[in-house]
Amino acid sequence: MKFLEAKFVKGFIRMCDDGWNQGWHERNGGNLSYRVKPEEVGLVKENFNTKEWQPIGASVPTLANEYFLVTGSGKYFRNVSIQPEDSICMIELDEKGEKYRIVWGLIHGGKPTSELPSHLMNHEVKALVNPEYRVIYHAHTTNIIALTFVLPLKDEVFTRELWEMATECPVVFPSGVGVVGWMVPGGKEIAIATSKLMKEYDLAIWAHHGMFAAGYDFDLTFGLMHTAEKAAEILVKTLSMQPNKLQTITTQNFRNLAIDFKVTLPEKFLYEK
Ligand code: 13P
Ligand code: ZN
Repeated sequence: MKFLEAKFVKGFIRMCDDGWNQGWHERNGGNLSYRVKPEEVGLVKENFNTKEWQPIGASVPTLANEYFLVTGSGKYFRNVSIQPEDSICMIELDEKGEKYRIVWGLIHGGKPTSELPSHLMNHEVKALVNPEYRVIYHAHTTNIIALTFVLPLKDEVFTRELWEMATECPVVFPSGVGVVGWMVPGGKEIAIATSKLMKEYDLAIWAHHGMFAAGYDFDLTFGLMHTAEKAAEILVKTLSMQPNKLQTITTQNFRNLAIDFKVTLPEKFLYEK
């Protein structure tokens, strides 16, 4: 099968386009990775053109020998659907999970996203929680970023404020949202901090930078990012009108919702204000 005809590749490219259309990917902002299923690797293997091994910059032994589809570093989401072979690549990890090599894509040179350590460490944590997790998505979501300048950088505050902005939020992300204070991007340290949060959450905010989302497939992961960012947009609008809410979703409302929608909402987010 031709590489670009595979369903998982089409889904990946569509998600890049969707993110671009939301305005979350100025210039080369943001990155996406997908942990490819063994049967999907088999479908596209005939197209491989294998390059040299390179260090990942992190150790992910649980993901040894696995394949990932990832956006390229410095590549623009805007161009992914027009020039996928130049904008994205498929990589294979070595038997220790310490090195990668490009097996398809980036035909004019380049390397996978500079956030590869964060992507792979998040994949490792999520695969250990549940092997169904396959997508890690980093976007420069405008309203979430704006809120990191005015809200305390605490999981409890961001989760509760976002939950209050849309009734669907506690159902879509019942475990909450984690927050990483400002750190230098692209390295192992921020990857460690983010993957720690990913043990507990499917969403991690990077202060003054953006957000990471994890999910089983492209629809769920994009939908999660979209829902959280939309809640952030409502909060930005609300705070812009007046600093105090006249009414909101109450703690008791959340408890009632949890029963009907059969979700467990951690007590640490149901504090009285
Ligand atoms: P890359 O172009 O290396 O993916 O970096 C973009 C980005 O958002 C860094 O956080
Ligand atoms: Zn970024």
